[in-house]
Amino acid sequence: MTTADPSLESLARIEHPEYILEKMQPFLELMVYYHCAMLEVKTKLEVLDKGLALHSSRNPFESIKCRLKTPGSIIEKLKRKGYPLSLSSIEENLNDIAGVRVICSFPDDIYDLADSLCAQDDVTVLERKDYIQNPKPNGYRSLHLVIQIPIFLSDGKKEMRVEVQFRTIAMDFWASLEHKVKYKKDICNPEQVAEELRQCAEAISLMDQRMQEIRNSIA
Ligand code: GTP
Ligand code: MG
Repeated sequence: MTTADPSLESLARIEHPEYILEKMQPFLELMVYYHCAMLEVKTKLEVLDKGLALHSSRNPFESIKCRLKTPGSIIEKLKRKGYPLSLSSIEENLNDIAGVRVICSFPDDIYDLADSLCAQDDVTVLERKDYIQNPKPNGYRSLHLVIQIPIFLSDGKKEMRVEVQFRTIAMDFWASLEHKVKYKKDICNPEQVAEELRQCAEAISLMDQRMQEIRNSIA
């Protein structure tokens, strides 16, 4: 005779890949939609870059990086913020499942590109945080947008959210190193390190302004 132990039963079922795939299917589909939206934003930016290169012989961005949030990070963020663990909750509450980071040459390029992107008639701007005009207290600088764009599927269109971060090479250099330092656990003088980082951010910002002035003077 077998006694049905629900926890063991569910464990046994999870060993079947077809069961996992069936359960995962709606989540995987949603991730594909975010991936498509991310590629669409990347293409829009590349088209803008090519257009500007044709008309003014300048390329406003150096590189674009795209990333999709991992399932583990999605669950961690939903739990941390107290949101329900469901697909509709992901769509309603998380704006950064699809992330695009645009690294520009000069500060003015950031605003030219961002304004051109936001002006497109299928782009809806949901959020705009200008950490260049208003840097974070630690010195962090970037322009963050959350935009919504349609992706076109065989059975209609679906609006998807994408977070776009615009930075200069200098801002990105600072943010990358600050990110590494932040996660070091055994810093004995955290206040001094934070002040050093803030001062580096200031120095980098001045450098960006000087490079912008040089570009303006020869343009
Ligand atoms: P979320 O709910 O997590 O989106 O918080 P938020 O909307 O307050 O975040 P915000 O838009 O300010 O920043 C989101 C992203 O910007 C982060 O995931 C990082 O990629 C980047 N970022 C923000 N602040 C910092 C910072 O101080 N240092 C670094 N290195 N990156 C940052
Ligand atoms: Mg955010």
